[in-house]
Amino acid sequence: MRRAGELTRDVLELVRGLVKPGVTTLDLEKAAVARLKELDVKAAFKGYHGYPCALCTSVNSEVVHGIPSEKRVLKEGDIVSVDFGVVVDGYYGDSAITVPVGKIAPDTARLLDVTKKSLHAGIAVVRPGATLGDVGAAVQKVVEGEGFSVVRDFVGHGIGVHMHEDPQVPNFGEAGRGMKLKAGMVIAIEPMVNAGRPDVMVLDDGWTAVAKDGSMSAHFEHTVAVTDTGARILTE
Ligand code: MF3
Ligand code: CO
Repeated sequence: MRRAGELTRDVLELVRGLVKPGVTTLDLEKAAVARLKELDVKAAFKGYHGYPCALCTSVNSEVVHGIPSEKRVLKEGDIVSVDFGVVVDGYYGDSAITVPVGKIAPDTARLLDVTKKSLHAGIAVVRPGATLGDVGAAVQKVVEGEGFSVVRDFVGHGIGVHMHEDPQVPNFGEAGRGMKLKAGMVIAIEPMVNAGRPDVMVLDDGWTAVAKDGSMSAHFEHTVAVTDTGARILTE
């Protein structure tokens, strides 16, 4: 899973470097697919419940599962969430970043900072004996402390020989509640944070989830192993 994590990171960092005004989300997909071929590694999402691409690219108020398109031209001030995973020898990696396109508004920059900070707050409480409620509460506290909202309709997940395994890993909750973590478990923690209300809806393409109020949305994700001494981020 460490290898799957490293290769997930490799492709995501390549994509991050390509984000700029004028680039389409399909350009990002094509670059990712070319790199996958070079690495001789398989994308985790393509074909998953019929998903058509290697990347999910969600722009501005799109929360998750945006489909790369040649019609989606990134412009200065946009943000694009790129979600990506691979499968290596049957083991999965899964990670997401939200990338600014050129110069973005200060409030949008704060949304990205806070979402990333909330992911790391969740990771910081991971250790044997901590509960999933501890993780969710830590994420939620950072997000709501800054006046943003945690999306409820999508959550993190166990990951291993499938991309999505039990348990679900919500980005909200109550400390002390829920399943206890044990060394050897691997979970994907993935806060999706809206600048406005938490409500989302899925567009007619059957995939793209958007913030109902049209507010900006950010997404950061890591695949994290529980070890005897705490968390090990496999996708870093
Ligand atoms: N990181 C996303 C998730 O855990 C990836 C799934 S996208 C899909 O839900 F397209 F593959 F469905
Ligand atoms: Co995931």
